[in-house]
Amino acid sequence: MMDGLNEEFERTTLPDRGSAAAPQEAFQGMIADLKASMTRDFICVDAQRNPVAINLDRLGVTALQQVVSFYSRFPARIVEFLKAARDIARENGWRTIDTELTRNIGEELGTESPKPHYDHLVSGTVDAMGFNVEAPSWGESLSTKRFLDGMQQITQDSARPYRALGGIYAAECSAVKELLIVKALLNKISQSQGGTDLSETSELGHFLASHIEEWEVGHEDKLVSAASDHVTSEETRAQFAEGFIAVLGIMDEWWSGVYSEVEACS
Ligand SMILES: [Fe+2]
Repeated sequence: MMDGLNEEFERTTLPDRGSAAAPQEAFQGMIADLKASMTRDFICVDAQRNPVAINLDRLGVTALQQVVSFYSRFPARIVEFLKAARDIARENGWRTIDTELTRNIGEELGTESPKPHYDHLVSGTVDAMGFNVEAPSWGESLSTKRFLDGMQQITQDSARPYRALGGIYAAECSAVKELLIVKALLNKISQSQGGTDLSETSELGHFLASHIEEWEVGHEDKLVSAASDHVTSEETRAQFAEGFIAVLGIMDEWWSGVYSEVEACS
């Protein structure tokens, strides 16, 4: 896997923004470059290239449900990854990042919703689609395990704190695009079950809309703003970018792996 990451890093060339730029300006420039790289150099959150997104018509309903189940393992553990990155921020005295990630964790656990986000995903899928993402019958996904192990490694890496921060930022930055792919997947399942898209007023529809339009947008913007106070040198920016690219690299491998796994069963 590490070779894969190095390859990702090597084929992703970010412009040299020079050390003369003011730290805030250099940081914002790097964020713009990383966001451009996300859809140029990676397939995971590009709806035109993600292997599941482009093969929705080829996969049967059971395979699509299995993808949702495998995907749901990530939101099931997002709080753990956020906490790991938050603890690193705290150890390093990054007050604004600590505050923002703590707020984000609170939101995941239900400060702005009747129950934790992950619980809405589970019960909303049962209500709207009639299947339980947690059912053991969906089986194990080796590619999902690899991805989650990678996320854990990156976000817990206190020896490279800016890399951990860039990694958790990648998870926030990619969230809306990833959720749009998941939404298309859920609509496809819903269409094959009842001929219509997932209802916007269902618990699951509301879960998706709240994340896509509000929560994830806030998480990304507020983390950028907080990180700009602490990622202020060329060296720390390079480490931040490395973490961002590492997460997108394992996310690419994950979606490709999930597609192979469910395709083999359908
Ligand atoms: Fe959430």
